[in-house]
Amino acid sequence: MKRGVCPGTFDPITSGHLDIIERAAGLLDELIVGVALSPDKGGGPLFGIEDRVAFVEGATTHLSNVSVRPFDTLLVDFAERESATAIIKGLRAMTDFEREFQMAALNWRLDSKVETMFIMAIPEYMYLSSSAVKEIARHGGSVRGLVPQHVAAALERTFGAR
Ligand code: PNS
Repeated sequence: MKRGVCPGTFDPITSGHLDIIERAAGLLDELIVGVALSPDKGGGPLFGIEDRVAFVEGATTHLSNVSVRPFDTLLVDFAERESATAIIKGLRAMTDFEREFQMAALNWRLDSKVETMFIMAIPEYMYLSSSAVKEIARHGGSVRGLVPQHVAAALERTFGAR
């Protein structure tokens, strides 16, 4: 049984995240999406943890081997608690590499039994980030296609549709 965790802040989940989750789910028997509380990230997440978990759950109902859980611990401890042997991360451009390289090295130092594996973003989503999506929505731009539909609706409710 190959079980992996796919961690992130998911503030909110984007179509790029979903593509990585779908591809990882196809490689593993079970995938647990770990939604990190991340209270300090960028001045604090826009959406609360319950909303962020619900957004991921709503986007992954078609994936029978995927479950979603919040966590507020070290990632390696979350992986161990979930009996997962792999951490799956998406990698976009070179700009992600430095930070991901550091996290993978530190996670290996903390628990070398958990392997970090990367899935490359497809070209369509190389540019996509939760921060960019929030900035577009904040200024009244359309985020349709960049995030799942229920997330686009939530962003429109938050910032007001144009
Ligand atoms: O979507 P993000 O914000 O890039 O995800 C970052 C995340 C949640 C994967 C990272 O912050 C994390 O692993 N947090 C858990 C705490 C932890 O283990 N920190 C040490 C990692 S070196």
